[in-house]
Amino acid sequence: MLGRTGNRKTAFAAMALSGVLAASAAACGGGDGGDKNSDKSEVEVFSWWTGPGEADGLAALKADFEKKNPGTKFTNAAIAGGSGTQAQAVLASRLQNRKPPDSFQGHAGAELLDYIKAGQIEPLDSFYAENNLKSAYPEQLLQQITYQGKIYSVPVDIHRSNMLWYNPSILKDAGVSGAPKSIADFITALKAVKEKTKKVPLSLGAQWTADHLLENVLLGDLGADAYNALWKPGADWSSPAVTKALTDYTEIIKYTTAEAASTDWQGAAKAVVDGKAAFNIMGDWAYGYFTGTAPNGLGKKLDTDFKYAPSPGTDGTYMWLSDSFTLPKGAPHRGGALAWLKEASSKEGQDLFNPKKGSVPARKDADKTLYKGYLEYAFNEWNKPGVKLAGSFWHGVNASKKWHTDIDTAVGLFLQNKDMAKLQSALVDAAKNDAE
Ligand code: GAL
Repeated sequence: MLGRTGNRKTAFAAMALSGVLAASAAACGGGDGGDKNSDKSEVEVFSWWTGPGEADGLAALKADFEKKNPGTKFTNAAIAGGSGTQAQAVLASRLQNRKPPDSFQGHAGAELLDYIKAGQIEPLDSFYAENNLKSAYPEQLLQQITYQGKIYSVPVDIHRSNMLWYNPSILKDAGVSGAPKSIADFITALKAVKEKTKKVPLSLGAQWTADHLLENVLLGDLGADAYNALWKPGADWSSPAVTKALTDYTEIIKYTTAEAASTDWQGAAKAVVDGKAAFNIMGDWAYGYFTGTAPNGLGKKLDTDFKYAPSPGTDGTYMWLSDSFTLPKGAPHRGGALAWLKEASSKEGQDLFNPKKGSVPARKDADKTLYKGYLEYAFNEWNKPGVKLAGSFWHGVNASKKWHTDIDTAVGLFLQNKDMAKLQSALVDAAKNDAE
């Protein structure tokens, strides 16, 4: 399982946030600070899970929570917008104005570190001790939520960002024999779809999905080690290898939809299962959306309506991210928040949530038999000895919020002007300004 292999250890260590996240998660005598109100009458849970699949996962967790906490009113404060684009702005202003929700979704890694350093969330060491949680999570995941020896959040899932979803019939019509295994093959396949079918070669949605595509092309061209190295202080974003990846990115973008920005990730992913687009690169929350039961989910069938593969050039690497829940300082219903964190950290809760969400459990002791189809593959890949790990920059693992925003701004300009040299120089500047 996780942590057994040197490979996995090294990969996680490489991502350990510029050395700021302490490797040791030594309990600190339950020094959880902040307001000790124990109000359990309510809990306001803040996330961006409003779409099919993700909302269904949240609903499953909520139902179990309500069963176990009949006296606590659950308020779902989810704000629409894939990858938290809208939610994070609202959250920032609520935290600034000291009006925090009782618990909010934050990605393990650099994103969480921002909240920790801003003093916005409480350490959870006593909670971990009381609930015997330290041994439930992979040690290396704990490192990603630990700062100066204290643990700050409760991971509920592990998602994979480097996934390619495709429509087998369109590939057949285009004479493409299967999922492309390298970026070069991918470009050839996109060209074939364009020339031989009337379908969209690669569907894209709102701007953030172009950021998501960028991390996939970087990983596909550079490989896990060089990709991971990009997020370390002093990394060379001006290298010819990055130029090559950005040249490929520029080429790939030519095969995407012009009207992309008008839809979020769901619209782009749906185009594949509806037979309108050949390929989509998206995290595995798309699987929850595709296979969830109608009317919310699309009720589609794996292998008939769609197939999956690691995004081109990334087989053997798990580009991971983890949704975790926090205890904000000054949470109005601290008792409710702790009950929610207990639910999110439980084996039962995670096994109800993840099969619907399209993710695998963050805990090590999940019931493997519940993970079918793509999820069985994901479960095996995540737990495979020797699997290489890369952190998703867009989904919070290895870039601070400022770095993330700076890259997004550069990508936004690039989508307008398609100037690859300017994109690279903006990425070089972003790394210089933001890497710690
Ligand atoms: C990610 C998040 C996932 C999923 C996705 C699309 O950032 O970690 O859980 O919600 O955005 O919205």
